[in-house]
Amino acid sequence: MGKKIFSGVQPTGNLHLGNYIGAIKNFVDLQNEKENECIYCVVDLHAITVKQDPKILKSNIRETTATFLASGIDPNKSIIFNQSLVPAHSEGSWILGCIARMGWLNRMTQFKEKAGKDKEKASVGLYIYPVLMTADILLYDASHVPVGEDQKQHLELSRDIAQKFNLDFNAPNFLRVPEPLIQKNFSRIMSLKDGTKKMSKSEASDLSRINLTDSKDQIVNKIRKAKTDTYPLPVDEKNLDQRPEVENLLGIYSSLNKQSLKDTINDFSGKNFSDFKEKLADLVVEKILPISNEINKLKKNNDYIDSILEKGGEKANKIASRKILEIKKILGF
Ligand code: AMP
Ligand code: TRP
Repeated sequence: MGKKIFSGVQPTGNLHLGNYIGAIKNFVDLQNEKENECIYCVVDLHAITVKQDPKILKSNIRETTATFLASGIDPNKSIIFNQSLVPAHSEGSWILGCIARMGWLNRMTQFKEKAGKDKEKASVGLYIYPVLMTADILLYDASHVPVGEDQKQHLELSRDIAQKFNLDFNAPNFLRVPEPLIQKNFSRIMSLKDGTKKMSKSEASDLSRINLTDSKDQIVNKIRKAKTDTYPLPVDEKNLDQRPEVENLLGIYSSLNKQSLKDTINDFSGKNFSDFKEKLADLVVEKILPISNEINKLKKNNDYIDSILEKGGEKANKIASRKILEIKKILGF
């Protein structure tokens, strides 16, 4: 039996190598496994949990869609759409918000991180963000949800909400309880400037990340300037955790070259960092530049992007509005 896959990416600009290796590359692999049904959503309703400039938001929705397409998500095989096109997400979020308990949401670490010290000033939307995410997943009866490690807690919440709904309304197995799909290897790509911090779109220094829209020169330059240390390249995996920058670069190489960390270490042991960085830059350019070129081409064709989202939105709407009707019936509406 194939899997029913649902995942989402926020349209907040600057998608980078971490998003590609940690998420989008898997979306493509899952799509290409026969029998899987995949739905990939640009989660624009999640984006407005923090203040957005409407013009920039619109452009970021298109850019994230272009990134999906350029990376190999095929609209003939997968449903690609943006969340705000399908009203059931907002409706479902309200209903499931009445199932979720304050105590459950109070435990969410991402809210604590994002809200920072001044929680009183965070939007209510940011607080109930994981409930909207739950609606996204449950409306499509998703069996598996590919996400990064950082989303695991939100997935557990989705499972709790689904189970409580089924129990409260005596509707066994009505809401499907989803399984997270979390990559074991290379699931966290770190900043090129600080191996203890995640590569992130919000980091001030552009040198800390490879953006999926970078040119060849930018990629080569960023890898040349990536932080390393004064020791030689390692001969084995021992103590590598004490050299986070080196571990990260070896991990990026391994992931893009589809080989184990051990094999990469063997390939480069005894060589110097400049040799390794040159090979790494070649590999990143080989894998990322075609995507970057395609994104930049697609960005000039808004009508095409919008038509993909609209068609995907229609398909998604059929599935989600049917589910919301069933939910309403169960509730007594
Ligand atoms: P975000 O950009 O935070 O909305 O994340 C979109 C997807 O990319 C999620 O599945 C994240 O877990 C994944 N992701 C984001 N940053 C990284 C990173 N540095 N390494 C690996 N995966 C990441
Ligand atoms: N919260 C996810 C993130 O920041 C994005 C997301 C929204 C999502 N809805 C989803 C991921 C549903 C998986 C399934 O990465």
